[in-house]
Amino acid sequence: MLYRKLGKTGVEVSILGFGCMRFPTLNGKTERINQDQTRKMLNYALDNGVNFLDTGYTYHNGASEHFLGRYLNEEDLKDVYLSTKIPSWNITRREDLDNYLDEQLNKLQTDTIDFYLVHNLNQKYWPHLEKADIFQFLDDALADGKIKYTGFSFHDELEFFMEVVDLYPWDMIMVQYSYMDEDYQAGREGIRYASSQGLGVAVMEPLRGGALANIPEDIQIIWNKAETRRSPVEWALQYIWDNPDIDIVFCGMSTLKQVHDNVKYAMDGYPEKLTSNEKYMVKEVKMAFKDRIMVDCTSCGYCMPCSEGVNIPKCFMHYNHANIYDDVENESMHYFVLLKDEERANNCIECGECENLCPQMINIKQELKKVRKTFNE
Ligand SMILES: NC(=O)c1ccc[n+]([C@@H]2O[C@H](COP(=O)([O-])OP(=O)(O)OC[C@H]3O[C@@H](n4cnc5c(N)ncnc54)[C@H](OP(=O)(O)O)[C@@H]3O)[C@@H](O)[C@H]2O)c1
Repeated sequence: MLYRKLGKTGVEVSILGFGCMRFPTLNGKTERINQDQTRKMLNYALDNGVNFLDTGYTYHNGASEHFLGRYLNEEDLKDVYLSTKIPSWNITRREDLDNYLDEQLNKLQTDTIDFYLVHNLNQKYWPHLEKADIFQFLDDALADGKIKYTGFSFHDELEFFMEVVDLYPWDMIMVQYSYMDEDYQAGREGIRYASSQGLGVAVMEPLRGGALANIPEDIQIIWNKAETRRSPVEWALQYIWDNPDIDIVFCGMSTLKQVHDNVKYAMDGYPEKLTSNEKYMVKEVKMAFKDRIMVDCTSCGYCMPCSEGVNIPKCFMHYNHANIYDDVENESMHYFVLLKDEERANNCIECGECENLCPQMINIKQELKKVRKTFNE
């Protein structure tokens, strides 16, 4: 296993972290973790140098924290780090923050959480967090020894990311990143900035929830041309590890074989290792994915503001993602979590004002109907 320093914390973390949101389950029920299988997977990962597990209050409907609390205590592990997250969308008062942290400490059977992250800090939840005095809460939790380090995970626009990085002396950030996401959300620029400020940089959803693992035949043909043969998952992970600003990649894994494979890939995850030819191929793959775009919206925003508050570019972005990656389920989660009620396509009253303004001449009314249909609104 290779290790990198997590920003200014100086903590040596394995470049592969275990994302504890995709454990195998029983009878298709997310809260029924297949504990025997998951123990084998965690044992293998930790025995082979993985030293950071990432969970969250909501993962497996709360069962992930419960399970990890038992597992970590029984195994009596040393030098294994854990991050968990407070559900920012449920916070309205300071009391909520204190109650969640105490409940999480209890579930995790510990007096202190290594890395405590604000989950999905975005513009929608930020006013409530500010009102609840989130920074005083984090200061108090640090002073009381209930947490050791702070951070936030992020799914919003780059500009807001930069603002949030500067708002508090965070220790780490967790952002969505893959070769498809260089210019999406925080993206490469946000990662560069956070790293330059000394923050530890963790990547989540490196395979876009699995969409980059099972890729269509026409795209596989591009990978087949490479001199060094790698699986699509290895290409995706190596591309991230190639970036020296990134300290750790949390990958979700649902089988023992995936853990074996990813641990093996991590043994070779050196920074700045890919050749320019290989980087060019990644670009080709990216373009091939982008060819699957359904609505040619450039997010110029000329159509905005919509009188009903519909966020037309974002509706099209989620719709395009669902098609590009052939993964409606995962994208649907983003669509409903990230957009406010009024921003979603079902608020379109078909006035057609936006169509007069669109430089791409998109038939917005019709396309928004398809968005609604795709996401079952
Ligand atoms: N803070 C946040 O807002 C947030 C949001 C999302 C995720 N996260 C964190 O980031 C972690 C990673 O994100 P994620 O789990 O959503 O997505 P991910 O890591 O991009 O994808 C995980 C999925 O990829 C597939 N996979 C992994 N390794 C593979 C391999 N070697 N071969 C074939 N398929 C492989 C599996 O799909 P199948 O199960 O379908 O086989 C697995 O469930 C999470 O577990 C969580 O800890 C945080």
